[in-house]
Amino acid sequence: MIGRKSSSPPGPKGKFFNGNLREFQADPLQFMRKTTEQFGGISLLRFGPFQKVYLVNDPKLIKEILVTKQKYFIKSNDIRSLKTVVGDGLLTSEKEKHMYQRRLIQPAFKKQHIINYGQDMIETTLQYIAKWQDGEERDITEDMMNITLGIISKTMFSMKLEEGHSMIGEPMEAVMTLAIKRMRAIFPLPLWIPTKENQQFKNAIKKLDQVLYEIIEKRQNQGVEMEDLLGMLMAARDEKDGIGMTNTQLRDELMTIFLAGHETTANALSWTLYLLSQHPDKEEKLKDEISRVVLKREPQAEDFMKLPFAQNVVWESMRLFPPAYVVGREVDRNVEIGGHTLKRGDMILISQYVMHRNAEYFENPDTFIPERFENNFMRSLPPYVYFPFGGGPRVCIGNHFALMETVLTLVCIIQQYSLRLAPKHHTVKPQPLITLRPKHGIRMVVKKR
Ligand code: HEM
Repeated sequence: MIGRKSSSPPGPKGKFFNGNLREFQADPLQFMRKTTEQFGGISLLRFGPFQKVYLVNDPKLIKEILVTKQKYFIKSNDIRSLKTVVGDGLLTSEKEKHMYQRRLIQPAFKKQHIINYGQDMIETTLQYIAKWQDGEERDITEDMMNITLGIISKTMFSMKLEEGHSMIGEPMEAVMTLAIKRMRAIFPLPLWIPTKENQQFKNAIKKLDQVLYEIIEKRQNQGVEMEDLLGMLMAARDEKDGIGMTNTQLRDELMTIFLAGHETTANALSWTLYLLSQHPDKEEKLKDEISRVVLKREPQAEDFMKLPFAQNVVWESMRLFPPAYVVGREVDRNVEIGGHTLKRGDMILISQYVMHRNAEYFENPDTFIPERFENNFMRSLPPYVYFPFGGGPRVCIGNHFALMETVLTLVCIIQQYSLRLAPKHHTVKPQPLITLRPKHGIRMVVKKR
């Protein structure tokens, strides 16, 4: 047998009934990291009595799954369950439907449009942080959620900060809290069963639907073309058949982009501010770069390109705390990966968190060193060693948007404030839910410069 691969890769021994599920759930990040260190780039887990789960952390195999053999896979069950909220939008649709929608929507996220959104990002942030009082203690995780919610409301619907929060932010939060509860339930009851929670969930979705359809219809009646994301999605036509989106498709895509686009970026910002508070020398260096480039004026979208250190701070923050810390897939058709046959229904987990802390590619992998990204470091890495936005046909459509948003928001904040962890703060730890949040939030004292 020497030199030949066994049909199953190795993996940690699990319990008789649950397999590795309980151990995974107790601490997914450490479990995935430990398992990868022990068993290598592909290992086999079992969740419950029957579900095979392949944990993959070999860049070559990641590329096969996300790119070259992507047709053999579909999104994992938990993402599919989001369909009850976001319908058949980009995140949840598959195959031809996904490709068709992606072609239609991609132009709205081109770099030249993102530059236009940059000004909205800056205005929203400046307006929000103008309320901060010198020396006060704030819930930074909540602040970052409010800012990114304000930014997506403005770039998508040209709405003001408060309007976006009350009209969409609040109902969306209610829907997501209930959706996460359903995801975590071992047997979520079908929605047609009239339990109290099912009723609450359906009502919350109905409320959000009403808001979105009203916005769409109001725009259609106005007859004016706007340059925000909604305007672009409404004007999008397929280049082959010339057809645009129905109102249901529009609703699904708006909901998808809204959902995919604000919590991830809010987490990236919270982690970045936290890391800077722990490394005052890096904060100082960032402040110096801002003083040199932006001077004392208001930041502008064009500054983005002139702030390499700020960009590297964000890349390094997303290396250590990737907001999307795991990509999940389900095998749709039997396929060979790394010499093993994966069967229809098997699951795959690929973790950015684990890959980004691999000592083979990153010196002092657990230390915050933004300078490591200098001199085209990213290009020197093999593909899929660093991939905070995923890859292949399902790569994050908002990647440039997110990077610009994180950098510009950070620049606005650091130009005016210095942030330190509040006294007697709990140890900040990541909480892997749908995205990687700081567990119990982060409180900081904001000092005006
Ligand atoms: C730091 C912030 C962000 C991170 C780390 C992030 C990460 C990701 C990742 C890893 C995926 C791929 C998931 C998979 O393959 O299963 C994804 C997909 C997606 N993201 Fe993002 N994202 C961020 C911000 C945004 C923003 C700002 C938007 C929109 C404004 C957005 C919209 C989407 C959409 C629509 C998809 C689905 C794309 C498709 O399947 O075609 N994301 N994101």
